This record gives sequence, C-alpha cells and structure tokens, in this order.
Amino acid sequence: MHMTDFHYFTPTEIAFGKSSEEKLTFLLKKHGAHNVLIHYGGGSAERSGLLGKIRLMLKNEGIPFCELGGVVPNPRLSLVKKGIDLCREEGVDFILAVGGGSVIDSSKCIGYGVPYEGDVWDFFDSKAVPHAAVPVGVVLTIPASGSEMSDSTVITNDGPDLKRGCNSDICRPRFAIMNPERTFTLPSYQTACGITDILMHTLERYFSKEHLGITDAVAEGLLRTVMDAGPKVLKDPFNYELRASIMWAGSLSHNGLTGCGAVSDFGTHRLEHELSTMFGVAHGAGLAALWCYWAEYVREEDPSRFDTFSRNVLDGKDAIEGMRDFFHSIGMPTSIPELIGRKATQQEIETMALRCSRGGSFKVGNFKVLGQKEMLEIYNMSNK
Ligand code: NZQ
Ligand code: ZN
Repeated sequence: MHMTDFHYFTPTEIAFGKSSEEKLTFLLKKHGAHNVLIHYGGGSAERSGLLGKIRLMLKNEGIPFCELGGVVPNPRLSLVKKGIDLCREEGVDFILAVGGGSVIDSSKCIGYGVPYEGDVWDFFDSKAVPHAAVPVGVVLTIPASGSEMSDSTVITNDGPDLKRGCNSDICRPRFAIMNPERTFTLPSYQTACGITDILMHTLERYFSKEHLGITDAVAEGLLRTVMDAGPKVLKDPFNYELRASIMWAGSLSHNGLTGCGAVSDFGTHRLEHELSTMFGVAHGAGLAALWCYWAEYVREEDPSRFDTFSRNVLDGKDAIEGMRDFFHSIGMPTSIPELIGRKATQQEIETMALRCSRGGSFKVGNFKVLGQKEMLEIYNMSNK
C-alpha cells in the first residue's frame, strides 16, 4: 500500500439536472465567450430540439455564433482542420461542444489548433506540447467518455488512419451542462457502450499495485453503482434517477478522482484504439471485447487485486467471469469475433500491434507493461 504523490486538478464547472440548460448563457458569459463556435455531431442534437434551443438562447442574449456539425464517432482530423479555419475566419473565442466524447474531443482539438502555427497533429505525434487553446464548454448528451472533465483528446488522423490521444490540463472544459433527460433518446447499444467506457475508466485506475484506502473505496462504490444501474436502465430507459446516476458517474470516473495516488494502467484503452481505427467500432464495445483477455494475461502480476475486486465489487464472483457475464448482460461483445462478426485476419492483428507499439518502439500499461509481442498475444486471445 503506497499512496503516490498526485496533482488533482478539476477546473470544470458543472451544472447538473433538469434545469441545467437554462444556465448556458450565464456560463458562456462567465467564461468570457464573445464569439462562439457551436460544434456538434451527426444529427441527434438537432432532432431532439437541443440545438434549436441553444441557438435561440444565444440569439436572445446577443451572443454571436457560427456552427460546424458533422462530427462522427471516432472524430476525424479533417473536420478539425475545417473547424480551425472557421474559428480563425470568424474570430471565435469560445467553442461550445454539443454532444458526446467525439464532439468534445473534436472541439478540444480545434481549440488547440487555432493559436498554433504548425500542424495540430504535432500534439498527437509527440512533436510539440500545447501551451494555449481556445476554451471549450460542453452540453453533454451521452455519458461515456468523461471528456467533459478530462484532460484528454482522442483524434483519428484520416490520412494514415491513426487514432492518437493528447493529454494536457489546458483542454479541460470550462463548464459542462448535464441534463440526464437528454440521454433518454440514446439507443440501447450506445447506452451500453457508455456504461462500459465509464466502468473501464475506473478499472484502468483500480488495477494498480497500489492498494489504497480512500481511493479504492471511491472506485469500488462507483463500479458497484454503475454495474447495478446499467442493466436496469436498459430495461427502463426513461428512469431519471438511473440515467442521472450513470451520467454523474461518467464524469467522476475520468476526472482523476478514482485514481488519486494510484499508478493507472490504460493498456486496454491503448489496445482498443487500434480496434476502433481498424474496424470503426464504438470505443466502449471495443473495450468490452478486450478487457477479459487483458485481465487473464496480467492476473498473475497481482492476484490479490483481482480477489479484492471480486469481493468488494462482484459479490465474490470470479473477477474475469463476473465481468464477462456483466458485459453480456448489457449486450456487449466479449471477443473480437463477437465485436466485428468475424475473426480478424492475422494481418489485421499484426497491423494493430504494430500501430499500438508505434513500430515496436512504444510500450503500454503499468500493471503489466506490454510491448508489441504481448499486444499480439492479447489480440490473438480475444480473436478465438
Ligand atoms: O452524432 P450524433 O447524431 O449526435 O449521434 C451520436 C453518435 O452516433 C449518438 N448520440 C449522442 N448523444 C445522443 C445520441 N443519440 C441519441 N441521443 C443522444 N442523446 O451517440 C453516438 C456516439 O457518440 P460519441 O460522441 O462518439 O460517443 P462517446 O461519448 O462514447 O465518445 C467516443 C469517443 O470518445 C473517445 C473515444 O475514443 C471515441 O473517439 N474517448 C475520449 C476520451 C477523453 N477525451 O477523455 C476518453 C475515452 O476513453 C475515449 O477514448
Ligand atoms: Zn474510454
């Protein structure tokens, strides 16, 4: 047991609940927005009336804005570049992301790109570190990525087909508006992908060799709550309390709280980003297809961690079997063939391991450090 030193920084102001959207213009003004880019996805926010409501609120307050829609899941660098040009032309000084992780990450990346003279991909290619960014605010419509409070931005470069992340405190959103009622319209599959991602953001921190009193208790409470609410909300999608619980858990799971003092892992996340790049799958579903094999592969590093997880979260069920049953209970795949409807070819597996290890030079994970050879083994285990 050893609490490592940590720096906990969560500057995001949260407005949560049924009336939270009414605070939008107040929050925009408070955070210095004079000229706003409204950035959104493929149409869900238009259909629900949310965008219409936001446009009206900004007009009524006299806040000028322009718009850029069309963000796709696993957001693309090409649209980010359009956004950077648009912001420069229009003199945008604040980006409002209306949507989920993909829209928020696209917004964060546009924010990095506007003041930067070079190619914004430099930040994802470890060629440069961001020192400035146009600020971002969020109206969240899907609890999953935790990007509304996180320091992370994940973008797919549609040229070479590379999905990469960039971490910096300066991209953490200034505010996030979270109305659980907005999540009533989520399809079950998206709800389940979100639940998986939320659990994984805490599991990636919990599977650490540091066994910590308070941090573990917070993590276990979050995991138990989401695993209890998940299957229930799929049967009862208009249940406000369940939706609210999951939505708040999504933010807490990835704002750093559930890993304070622990050495986080994030190996499964790195492995998954190659699945979503190669097969265009939803991030949450890709995580479910990998986690149980990652867990089998690393278990011997510290079996007591798995025992604690089993006892404190899964009512004594075996850690790996318990999670496999849970993922199935919410309709998630637990192998690559279940995820993509066929086995991946050996060439696809090798390409994913090559990309994930950046040509063999890069390792992932901490609970057990994984190089290219170990990545190949885990992909192959999941491909049976
Ligand atoms: O595009 P629209 O039409 O809005 O539809 C979206 C999209 O198809 C739909 N949706 C969102 N809200 C809805 C809704 N449909 C009906 N009703 C609503 N209220 O849901 C679909 C998925 O949206 P997306 O934003 O892609 O999902 P998510 O929030 O899971 O974000 C996934 C992305 O976030 C990255 C992932 O890699 C992936 O690219 N991540 C970002 C992280 C971060 N920045 O901290 C951490 C995560 O680990 C993750 O890697
Ligand atoms: Zn994730």
